[in-house]
Amino acid sequence: MKILVSGATGLIGGALVNALEIDRHEVTALSRSEAVQAPRLLWDPERGKIDARMLDGFNAVVHLAGESIAAGRWTPLMKERIRESRCRGTGLLAQTVAAVSRPPQVFVCASAIGFYGDRGDEVLTENSPAGTGFLADVCREWESACRPAAARGIRVVHARFGVVLSRRGGALKKMLPPFRWGLGGKIGSGRQWWSWIGLSDVVGAIQQTLKDGSLSGPVNVTAPGPVRHDEFIRILGRVLRRPAVTPLPAFAAKLVLGEMADALLLASARVEPRKLIQSGYVFRAPTLAQALTEA
Ligand SMILES: NC(=O)c1ccc[n+]([C@@H]2O[C@H](COP(=O)([O-])OP(=O)(O)OC[C@H]3O[C@@H](n4cnc5c(N)ncnc54)[C@H](OP(=O)(O)O)[C@@H]3O)[C@@H](O)[C@H]2O)c1
Repeated sequence: MKILVSGATGLIGGALVNALEIDRHEVTALSRSEAVQAPRLLWDPERGKIDARMLDGFNAVVHLAGESIAAGRWTPLMKERIRESRCRGTGLLAQTVAAVSRPPQVFVCASAIGFYGDRGDEVLTENSPAGTGFLADVCREWESACRPAAARGIRVVHARFGVVLSRRGGALKKMLPPFRWGLGGKIGSGRQWWSWIGLSDVVGAIQQTLKDGSLSGPVNVTAPGPVRHDEFIRILGRVLRRPAVTPLPAFAAKLVLGEMADALLLASARVEPRKLIQSGYVFRAPTLAQALTEA
């Protein structure tokens, strides 16, 4: 297939492009940066600039681009960048691919389990309604921005990613230094559910959404065994062979990280990847210990 990937320079995009190229797909990156190796197309989502002619004739689009949500404190300006980079960028890309003469058959757009908000012990499937809070609002708007593509008859998939485990980026990269210093431990009560997924399964799940024509709409991209945060920390300590006995109280996390701590670390989301399982997807790292060891 001819596949266009935005955010190809990121954690998920980089791994995805490698895997797609190994499978001999023809991959083009859609980037804001001229430094990205060809084949690549440039766009400027902030200014609404994209070359529509160049987007004609792709079989699939995987849209992963967006301002990092964990780069710094959520100041009003940062929140605006997080929202705008997703909603405006997605709207621009969806409208553009919907208007070309040979549109893609499938448009896979990143989303996040932040869609569900903070939900305690409730089991969350793709049928569960949206939660409340900043991330849930952003995810809802982000998914809605794909509407022009769906209206053109393109199969749209909202890949609701869980906590992606990789030592190169995301939550795990930030958690490793304290563990290495022997200062690892649970954050808050530890009772909150963490719905994680190994990077190889994120890639595998995206590949599944590309090839399985029956997958459309929201698809939870999480492993089948979400765990409570204290269990996550215990298994991480075991895999790293480091102690995990230094807790960070919720108030301290909020003091350091502000609102971000509530949404990313303390919120509870017990997500089930029902559609991926129904599609027959076989997880490469189905247990947390396997995914952490792989990472
Ligand atoms: N990693 C996770 O645990 C996780 C969990 C849930 C959801 N997600 C979502 O999945 C997507 C990919 O995640 P990732 O971890 O691979 O992200 P990432 O490593 O932060 O990469 C995102 C890419 O987006 C582009 N980008 C950055 N800032 C941008 C902006 N202001 N406007 C437009 N594009 C921008 C960059 O590509 P260029 O510089 O080439 O343009 C960057 O390489 C993101 O939308 C993220 O929110 C990730």
